[in-house]
Amino acid sequence: MRERHGLNAPGEWYIDTACIDCSAARTVAPGLIVHAGGQCVFARQPETAEELRLAWRAHLLCPTASVRTESPAHPPDRVFPEEMTTNIFRLGYNARSSWGAHAFLVRRAHGNVMVDAPRWTRAVVEALEASGGLSDILLTHRDDVADAGLYGQHFGARVWIHEADRAAAPYADRILSGRQPLPIDDDLLAIPVPGHTEGSVVYLYDRTCLFTGDTLAWSFERNDLVAYRDVCWWSWPEQRRSLQRLLDYPFQWVFAGHGGSMVLPAAAMHARLAGLVERMH
Ligand SMILES: [Fe+2]
Repeated sequence: MRERHGLNAPGEWYIDTACIDCSAARTVAPGLIVHAGGQCVFARQPETAEELRLAWRAHLLCPTASVRTESPAHPPDRVFPEEMTTNIFRLGYNARSSWGAHAFLVRRAHGNVMVDAPRWTRAVVEALEASGGLSDILLTHRDDVADAGLYGQHFGARVWIHEADRAAAPYADRILSGRQPLPIDDDLLAIPVPGHTEGSVVYLYDRTCLFTGDTLAWSFERNDLVAYRDVCWWSWPEQRRSLQRLLDYPFQWVFAGHGGSMVLPAAAMHARLAGLVERMH
C-alpha cells in the first residue's frame, strides 16, 4: 500500500513508499529531495517558485508516481522539456521499464535527436512534435530503451544501438559495432564504451556535450564524477578502460541516464574524469 514515507519533512509535498529508489527525482531536485531510509524523500518543503518547479518536475518524471502533493495546484508551465543548455532538453516522464532513466532531446537544424527514451505519453509526443519531430533516437545501452520503439515508429526516426545490446531494441535500424568511434553526423559522434553493458555507447554532441547512459554520471552528494560498480553488469575493468579512452574526447557537459548531469570547463571535467579512472582500480 502507498503511504507517506515517515522521513519526509512535514508539509504538503511527500514521497510515498512505492518509490523504487531510482534516484531520478533526486537528480532533478538535488538537496530538496534526498536519499533516506532506502528511498527518496523530501528533505524540506519547497519554498521558492523555483523549488516548487523542481518539485513538480520530480512529480512528472517519477516512474512510480510516488512524488505527491496534497496541494490542489497544477504544474506550472514549462516544467518539461527542461532546457539544460542551448538546444538540449531533459524530457521527463521517465519509464519504470528503464528504472527511471532520464531521456534527452537535442534540437538540431538538420534533425532532432532523442537520447534514450521516456515512457510513451501524449505530453512527450506533443513536445517533440512542437520541436519539429525526431530524425534519430540514440540508445546508450540495453537497459534504457524504454518506449523508444513507439517513438521511433511514430516519428519515423532512425534508431541506433550497439550490436551487443541490440536484442533490447530489435526494431533498431542503425547498428554500431566494435569499439571504434563512429561519426553519425558532423556534430554527433558515437563512442562505444563497453563495461556497464557490453554494448554501452556514449554520444558526443557538438564536441561539448556527452550523453553517458549508465557509464558515467555526476553525483550531487559527492560533488564529483562517478561510475557505478554495483550495477556494472558486464565488466568493471572494461568500463575503466572505456572511461580512460574517453579522456581523448574533451567535453564540458555530462548528461547521465541514471544520476546527475553537470557542466564544468572542459579542463576541469577532464581532471575529474582522470581522477575517477584512478579511483576505479
Ligand atoms: Fe543500465
